[in-house]
Amino acid sequence: MELIDGKKVSADIKREIAAEVEKIVAAGGRRPHLAAILVGHDGGSETYVANKVKSCAECGFVSSLLRFEDDVTEARLLEEIHKLNENPEVDGFIVQLPLPKHISEQRLIEAIDYRKDVDGFHPINVGRMSIGLPCFRSATPAGIMMLLERYGISTSGANCVVLGRSNIVGKPVASLLMQKGYPGNCTVTVCHRDTRNLKEVCRNADILIAAMGRPESVTADMVKDGATVIDVGTTRVPDASRKSGFRLCGDVKFDEVAPKCAYITPVPGGVGPMTIVSLMQNTLLAAKREIYS
Ligand code: GUN
Repeated sequence: MELIDGKKVSADIKREIAAEVEKIVAAGGRRPHLAAILVGHDGGSETYVANKVKSCAECGFVSSLLRFEDDVTEARLLEEIHKLNENPEVDGFIVQLPLPKHISEQRLIEAIDYRKDVDGFHPINVGRMSIGLPCFRSATPAGIMMLLERYGISTSGANCVVLGRSNIVGKPVASLLMQKGYPGNCTVTVCHRDTRNLKEVCRNADILIAAMGRPESVTADMVKDGATVIDVGTTRVPDASRKSGFRLCGDVKFDEVAPKCAYITPVPGGVGPMTIVSLMQNTLLAAKREIYS
């Protein structure tokens, strides 16, 4: 069993990005600039956004954090999005999800100029990705693809089972895995709460991607010997022994599943750090106008 070290891979890629940024700056160019809109004080979102801001600094980017209270109106956020769309100093921006119930996430996502949508959530980017055109790929799926590639995991003809059908992870990762090329060419099955014979379906997987957000629900009896298991889960569970009062728990029962695997990602330190690095890559591409001019 080999542990997939997302922390190391992400640190390597951040160094590569930082070196490229210094070259751009030395040639008289501007540093890439990522802005983030954060609404409210959800603990998970606060941590994610703080990590994004820190990663920007590590990559030599400029970052702006725009904070709003929980009671902000949708109209006020739309106004901010329009300003960011028009601001030539901002290369890309994100609206951290989830948002309070009175705000339509979809309406905000669709208001973002797709050329600045470095989260890859706008329907234009989602559509372009699904037909294999250059686009901003959403961060977690792109991070998973990078891990498969950097570890040289063979994907062509592999049976890949994706657990979960979210717009952020399940659907886009299924779409990327089935595309022509490497990593890709997989035979993909997407499972969800209505899937029958879940255990049998999972046991057929050469690559199993757990992204349903249900802690430790993938058990050893669901995993084929020699499979690659990618754990996208990051549920906070109470843990009195931690200073924070919680620990991050994956969707896979790591201790019993790991011995059966060829490769497995840990939580934390697997997919999580890759998600942020994908966002940094998209921001660099936006700054270089490499996808959309
Ligand atoms: N919430 C959970 N994951 C993400 C992400 O990748 N981007 C944004 N904007 N919000 C999230």
